Amino acid sequence: MGNLYGLIGYPTSHSMSPIMHNQAFASLHLPHHYQAFSVHPQQLAAAISGIKALGVSGFNVTIPHKVTVMDYLDEIDELAANIGAVNTVKNVDGKLIGYNTDGAGFLLSLKQLHSAPLVEKSVLIIGAGGAARAILATLLHEGIKTVDIANRTVSKAEALVTRSGNTSSRVFSLTEAAQLLGKYDIIVNTTSVGMSPHVDELPVSVENVSKGAVLCDIIYNPLETNWLKAGKVQGAITQNGIGMFVGQGALAFELWTNQKPNFEQMEQTVLNQLGGKTC
Ligand code: ATR
Repeated sequence: MGNLYGLIGYPTSHSMSPIMHNQAFASLHLPHHYQAFSVHPQQLAAAISGIKALGVSGFNVTIPHKVTVMDYLDEIDELAANIGAVNTVKNVDGKLIGYNTDGAGFLLSLKQLHSAPLVEKSVLIIGAGGAARAILATLLHEGIKTVDIANRTVSKAEALVTRSGNTSSRVFSLTEAAQLLGKYDIIVNTTSVGMSPHVDELPVSVENVSKGAVLCDIIYNPLETNWLKAGKVQGAITQNGIGMFVGQGALAFELWTNQKPNFEQMEQTVLNQLGGKTC
């Protein structure tokens, strides 16, 4: 295989993946290069043929191709199939194999923050979109017993739980979740609520969060959402979305190169790019 890696999405101009991966390649003295390609949805099939023809060794997939790309791959890993989306592809001797490192990236970043075993923890996921699906499937795969879902549209959360096949996950409205928050050790916001420019909105009130609980927001713009700020005031430990972004990238890097990149260095590269500090 060659030395070219990349990203396909539409658009990709704001992606931090090229700088993050290129610095990680350089720091391990690998002769590889990572390039972002903006691929119109109607050009996806042609782009995948091009990737095969050119011998691109691996690539990431982002919005809007994470689900549709699956039609063009030769093999899909079991977790990615469960999630129903692919964010990482490895080219093995001309065969394209799809993976999903989004949920595992989140788990990796959580483990960096939380050294205690996670299996006995109770987790509440807020939201029922693609990110929630990846995180739910990964946490269940990890063996975490209590993973509940709260969503504005309760029927979507119910559908997510049914799809996961996990009968013990409970589903709540956002109002119910606000009241029950104190029961959870780890609470993850996977919605876009609080993302720039709507920074004043909170996905759910944190009034009842337990002191020492972990609040994770997958948003990293702004770096510290008002939800995380409010959680800190209540004594929660907080984590922003940089960890999940870097985690998914680090796991993709490892799939492609069989080498572990330096997580902290990748995180610093992204933070420098965003011009802030982690929280
Ligand atoms: P992604 O793939 O990034 O997870 P998505 O599939 O569009 O994004 O999912 C967005 C999630 O954010 C959903 O859970 C959505 O709630 P609904 O299922 O009710 O639509 C949630 N969301 C988006 N805007 C919201 C808002 N203003 N208030 C509450 N939840 C919101």
